[in-house]
Amino acid sequence: GLARPVVFGNWKMHGLRADSLALAGSLVERAVRPTGTLGVFPPATVLRDVARRLEGSRILAGAQDCHPEASGAFTGSISASMVKDAGGTAVLVGHSERRHGLGEDDAVIRRKVLAAQGEGLLVVLCVGETEAEWQAGEREARLRRQIHEGLAETVDAALLVLAYEPVWAIGTGRTPSLEDIAGTHAFLRRELVGRLPAAQDVPLLYGGSVKPGNAADIMALPDVDGALVGGASLDAAGFWSIYQAG
Ligand code: G3H
Repeated sequence: GLARPVVFGNWKMHGLRADSLALAGSLVERAVRPTGTLGVFPPATVLRDVARRLEGSRILAGAQDCHPEASGAFTGSISASMVKDAGGTAVLVGHSERRHGLGEDDAVIRRKVLAAQGEGLLVVLCVGETEAEWQAGEREARLRRQIHEGLAETVDAALLVLAYEPVWAIGTGRTPSLEDIAGTHAFLRRELVGRLPAAQDVPLLYGGSVKPGNAADIMALPDVDGALVGGASLDAAGFWSIYQAG
């Protein structure tokens, strides 16, 4: 399995080439001999450049999404083989900004997971409930559905990471309490292993307003194997200190 902590930075729609290369370069300088797993997910336009800059380091580069089909008339999309061809070794699937902003459902996410693993990519499947679902006591039902419908029985647990991101905690500066995160991660571990018996060792990441100031407490929780960081991953020093906190 992947060495812990597993700390991934999702750059979202940030970064032209020069800034992205500078950020990647500053991470390479810091991460001389990381004992855990570090990765960044830049915009697709700079994936190849960033992957090259990271070559020889132990930091992986991945894409923020891929299409479920191998090729075809899908304007604006990129396939898993294109991610791989650009030097990516991982891909985020089912991020809430795609589920909620772009209407992706569990059925398409399931196909994306299989397509990405078919190319040998590490899949970071993102799950999480909305604020309304949380308040209505529907969190567990929602997460269970995302796991069972998003993961086909044939999924390779060795190429899987699960990221729990409560939608209401993303980019808001709010996080669930530590107790709440621990309870949800224990639930996710049970659900995941119920779905895929080989998933005992699949890293479970927490995401949503992870910052240098809260990273140590969150990553010290049982069943929290690392973090998926958005905003705070755009600053090399901050991202590195989050990694070190794990
Ligand atoms: O993928 C990362 C998450 O959406 C978290 O974003 O750290 O800016 O809250 P954030």
